[in-house]
Amino acid sequence: MSRRHVIRWTIRCAIVIAAALLLHACAAMQVRAPDVSIELENQARTLGFDPASLSQGREIFITRCARCHATPEVHGYSTEQWQRILPRMSQRARLDAAQESAVRAYVLAARQSNAPDPPLP
Ligand code: HEC
Repeated sequence: MSRRHVIRWTIRCAIVIAAALLLHACAAMQVRAPDVSIELENQARTLGFDPASLSQGREIFITRCARCHATPEVHGYSTEQWQRILPRMSQRARLDAAQESAVRAYVLAARQSNAPDPPLP
């Protein structure tokens, strides 16, 4: 192999390795938010929330609530803690009343569930 070939291959390998490392880092950084499932809908009903609002709540949770910090872990706080945190953070995220109650329904139903947390899409 000529010297130029060696250099070219070295650069290619370096790029592949860098890309793999980056992908790995991104996967590790992903926060988990349980999918909306039958179990989650049942939890929402039990808690007195509208199960139809869960999908919207999850969507807002993983987008609007991840602007200033990583998406929080739903199982990371008790229901009482969430009840204190959510009004404050909904204000920060500038959610309207309907969006706030959708996020509340999602977070509180999700934290009650034992659903494994799949990675975010
Ligand atoms: C405008 C920026 C901003 C947005 C948007 C935002 N947060 Fe926060 N969040 C913060 C900051 C700053 C802190 C840390 C300081 C504090 O607790 O006030 C924080 C802290 C938190 C904590 C940890 C609280 C604690 O007491 O340990 C949770 C949980 C949280 N946010 C959830 C959310 C949720 C849910 C949303 C969406 C409804 C959201 N955040 C949207 C800025 C934001």
